[in-house]
Amino acid sequence: MMNEKTISTACEQETLALARRCAAALKGGEIIFLRGPIGAGKTIFVKGIAQALGLKSSPTSASFSLMKRYHNRQKTLYHIDLFRLSETEVFNLGFEEMLEDEKAIILAEWPDPITQMMPQDRLEMDFTLTGGDNRQITLRAGGAVSRALMEKLL
Ligand SMILES: Nc1ncnc2c1ncn2[C@@H]1O[C@H](COP(=O)(O)OP(=O)(O)O)[C@@H](O)[C@H]1O
Ligand SMILES: [Mg+2]
Repeated sequence: MMNEKTISTACEQETLALARRCAAALKGGEIIFLRGPIGAGKTIFVKGIAQALGLKSSPTSASFSLMKRYHNRQKTLYHIDLFRLSETEVFNLGFEEMLEDEKAIILAEWPDPITQMMPQDRLEMDFTLTGGDNRQITLRAGGAVSRALMEKLL
């Protein structure tokens, strides 16, 4: 695959350090898809970013368990987790609305059900368990914004 890069972390703290690096590079308007099995570290990564940015979570009107909103005065981050859901199940739940906020940061675990509605310019992060606490994270960028973000993570 063209433009694919892999990062390894050896413990949770290293994944959190990567999340802090990512947070420092986020300007708003970035989309990250997080893939990989349960326990791979996707949620840890998202929480690390929210914490590094000093964002507080607040309930979202629609589908609050599927989408959490974190924000402060400068930034809004949407954390989506669509584990085991289908496209029909998430249809009409309002996920398109977050795309109207062009400065929002969108982090989606199990993103398959919303892939169709999402812009191509997104950073795909595929987490793999590689034994013990080791994780391999493969990065792929779909456009200029995500490519710039990816460069800062490497
Ligand atoms: N290198 C690592 N990176 C991230 N998490 C790790 C790592 N090693 C061990 N862990 C543990 O794996 C689990 C990851 O959980 P979580 O982030 O909820 O996974 P996911 O959201 O991918 O299902 C946590 O219990 C974390 O402490
Ligand atoms: Mg998770």
